[in-house]
Amino acid sequence: MATEERAVPLRLGSIAPNFQADTTNGPIDFHEFIGDNWVVLFSHPEDYTPVCTTELGAFAKLEPEFTKRGVKLIGLSANTVESHGGWIKDIDDITGSKLTFPIIGDKNRHVAYLYDMLDHQDTTNVDSKGIAFTIRSVFIIDPKKTIRLILSYPASTGRNTAEVLRVVDSLQTGDKHRVTTPINWVPGDDVIVHPSVKNEEAKTLFPNFRIVRPYLRFTPLPKEETSAAV
Ligand code: BEZ
Repeated sequence: MATEERAVPLRLGSIAPNFQADTTNGPIDFHEFIGDNWVVLFSHPEDYTPVCTTELGAFAKLEPEFTKRGVKLIGLSANTVESHGGWIKDIDDITGSKLTFPIIGDKNRHVAYLYDMLDHQDTTNVDSKGIAFTIRSVFIIDPKKTIRLILSYPASTGRNTAEVLRVVDSLQTGDKHRVTTPINWVPGDDVIVHPSVKNEEAKTLFPNFRIVRPYLRFTPLPKEETSAAV
């Protein structure tokens, strides 16, 4: 159950609100769960929903790549952990996954509310068939517990696990170097020298940087500095 009410809308840069909750792997305190890791928290409005079934299977299969990058996965669905247990068996059976990361039991939608995952439909956010819309968010949270990415998906559109991993790679690369990453960047591609780095300093930091415009400067990074693409 959430221990803290949402006071202000969550934004990039907000500290991820703490909560205690039951999960399929036992009770957690979310900040303790984060510890010194990166975390991807992603949510579902209901167990046994078709699109969500494919998404959970895909996250489970890609989990080793997240682990390599120091990222813990945690799902949430607005049902009980007992219900999640049966759904996980189905997910593994259907998708060939072996899902072991925790899924939060958020039957009362306390965490969904705390994280502003609900849409504007009405105060209960329950549609005529009893499903809570939307609770289909993705949060990337860094080891300082800062929210670095927020995505919100419609029920009709399955998420893209490779894209979530790509954002992790971009954020971790940007944190390590004073760079940003351009459109459709994947590890190994050239990156953009951060505007705060003046050309004199860039010559030292990035000997092979090139100036396309004074405001757009690209550089390769040493190969070992970029994670392998999936
Ligand atoms: C799904 O297919 O996962 C889904 C269906 C209805 C509402 C939310 C999700």
